[in-house]
Amino acid sequence: MTALHINGGIPLQGKVRIQGSKNASLPILAATLLAKDNSHILNCPQIADVEHMLSLLRNLGCRVSRSKEGYQIDSAPAGACKMSGEAITGMRSSLCLLGAMLGRFGEVAMEHPGGCIIGDRPIDLHIKALEQMGVVFSEEAGRLVGKAAKLHGADIRLPIPSVGATENILLAAVQAAGDTLIAGAAKEPEVEALCRYLTACGAEIDGAGTSIVFVRGGRSLHGAQFKVPSDRIVAGTYLFACVGCGGSVLLENAPCEQMEAVVRAAESMGARCQPDCGKGSYGTEYGRESGLYVHSCGRPAAVERLYTAVYPGFPTDLQSMALAVLTRADGVSRVEENIFENRFRVVEPLRKMGADIELLEDRTAIVRGKDTLRGARVEAKELRGGAALVLAALMAEGESEITGCAYIERGYENIGKDLRDLGARISSV
Ligand code: UD1
Repeated sequence: MTALHINGGIPLQGKVRIQGSKNASLPILAATLLAKDNSHILNCPQIADVEHMLSLLRNLGCRVSRSKEGYQIDSAPAGACKMSGEAITGMRSSLCLLGAMLGRFGEVAMEHPGGCIIGDRPIDLHIKALEQMGVVFSEEAGRLVGKAAKLHGADIRLPIPSVGATENILLAAVQAAGDTLIAGAAKEPEVEALCRYLTACGAEIDGAGTSIVFVRGGRSLHGAQFKVPSDRIVAGTYLFACVGCGGSVLLENAPCEQMEAVVRAAESMGARCQPDCGKGSYGTEYGRESGLYVHSCGRPAAVERLYTAVYPGFPTDLQSMALAVLTRADGVSRVEENIFENRFRVVEPLRKMGADIELLEDRTAIVRGKDTLRGARVEAKELRGGAALVLAALMAEGESEITGCAYIERGYENIGKDLRDLGARISSV
């Protein structure tokens, strides 16, 4: 798919199944390396980033095969060969191989991982924490090389609850000699999912999903079957599509227990949401389906203040979609980005569609809602901003063309089909 053509202005109706979580799948796939055994990972989304991670695992010698419900990964034959530069650049999430390779082989060599252009995205916290665990880093021919004569546990305090750094520490810690304490750990559901997979493989981890995580290192791990939870960001994207366009939608499998802040934001914009979580707090994890009904009509209401925060706050990955919806809101809204400084790149193409957005210096956008947006030719420059442009085009009068769809495909299995199933007039070319 190179472009999406969208004829906007139609309310959404029907149901859509929410794919497995990208951000949970990737570290779990990297973690299969630690098992030295066969793992069966179910509900991985069929997206470019997952394919990329699987090809990295194959390059390392893992046997990867597709099953009906997921992927079988046998990491027993893997060896510490160096990964090629092209393999590792271009995907930020390949960074979790840093912890996995150090845990498995005690050494790693990789290019600086790429990813979406949403700020500098430093990796200083990853490096510092792994150094505390005995890893010595150097730069050789422009590559980051890490070696640990003996990986050991450590007391680590993260000054920022970084998702990626917490995941890398966990991946190294389960194989390190001795115990590791992570204070200030990220509480995101994707970190918790990684802990659940590692625990299923025989690791001992306390405090998963809280800010203090304790790992008893050095346990011998084995393979496991694990179902990746549904993608809360994809669910949130379609939820905001419904808020922006109006209509009634069922988001099948939506992990509503992970979406409280998102549902609250949608409700403050005038939507009615009815979670269908069943009992228990981790429905999707054990194969119980959950879901979310969304109903919205008329113009969305403006919100006084929407701000991104670490989980359980409003996720930065849904900020662009909320911003797109608020361009049509009845009134003036204030949106604050507190995680990544460069998330407002979507403002320029939104303006091309008629949005009135003023950017203040302190990562704040003032959105003066307009009655209508107009269709336009716009280009996606990053994953979530690209999805926000799709939403804006669905809300706009007339036809839009969105190019740069390769970015969007990194996170959405088939955004065009999903939205077509909800009645949108959208085609891919
Ligand atoms: C992950 C998600 C991404 C999501 C983000 C925040 C994946 C593949 N990506 O990204 O979709 O938007 O969490 O929920 O799971 N930081 C540093 N130094 C570091 C690491 C991070 O200063 O070494 C800063 C970042 O610049 C950012 C903040 O910490 O301001 C949070 O980043 P982090 O939680 O690490 O995000 P990622 O793991 O990269």
